[in-house]
Amino acid sequence: MSSKLFVCDHPLIQEKLATLRDRATAPEEFRRAMAEVSSLLGAEALRGLPTKRTSVRTPLGHSPAMVTTQPVVFVAVLRAGLGMLPGLQHLLPSAHVGHIGLYRNEETLNPVRYYVRLPRNIRDCFVVLCDPMLATGGSVLESLHILKTDRAKKIVLLSVIAAKAGVARVQREHPDVPIYLAGVDAGLNREGFIVPGLGDAGDRLFAT
Ligand code: PRP
Repeated sequence: MSSKLFVCDHPLIQEKLATLRDRATAPEEFRRAMAEVSSLLGAEALRGLPTKRTSVRTPLGHSPAMVTTQPVVFVAVLRAGLGMLPGLQHLLPSAHVGHIGLYRNEETLNPVRYYVRLPRNIRDCFVVLCDPMLATGGSVLESLHILKTDRAKKIVLLSVIAAKAGVARVQREHPDVPIYLAGVDAGLNREGFIVPGLGDAGDRLFAT
């Protein structure tokens, strides 16, 4: 069994993805497009949030209503995941935020962990793992290992763009984790970059 994959074809999401892919997009505009696409994709990824029925008093009477019942945690994979937070926090200001610091060893492409800080109640939360790039899948697999070791139970992965091979790896190893994306590209080059992709998201966000 493999996990569910949602590649969102909403025109606004696809337009933001075009802006992110475009080499002429400057960092300021890149950050804005990353925040906006994260917000739009985030709403899709939170579709499975549990709710309960309630009612509200309107100016003219009573209406049945629904409210969400589970706290949400956005976990950003450093650095590029930081670019997703403004849009996600705008979408859901009450969410808690965790950070996982990883960088890829340039030769082996294996993730190297340098920082982990997660909310204490993560096992009771709906966890959205945020990393705009899913290339070989190594960083996401390491992040999911960290989250599950901390006993997170409900996790969804929110990325912007992925390589097919990375998606297949995550689906195979974590069939319980749905994946939300704006696009999937066929290939990876020898340096482990998604092709055609959008370049290095961290560098483009922070102009490094
Ligand atoms: C990039 C990207 C992902 C990771 C994806 O981060 O932001 O975290 O690579 O690659 P993978 O699927 O092969 O693991 P990078 O390691 O370049 O660190 P950075 O965000 O600090 O630039």
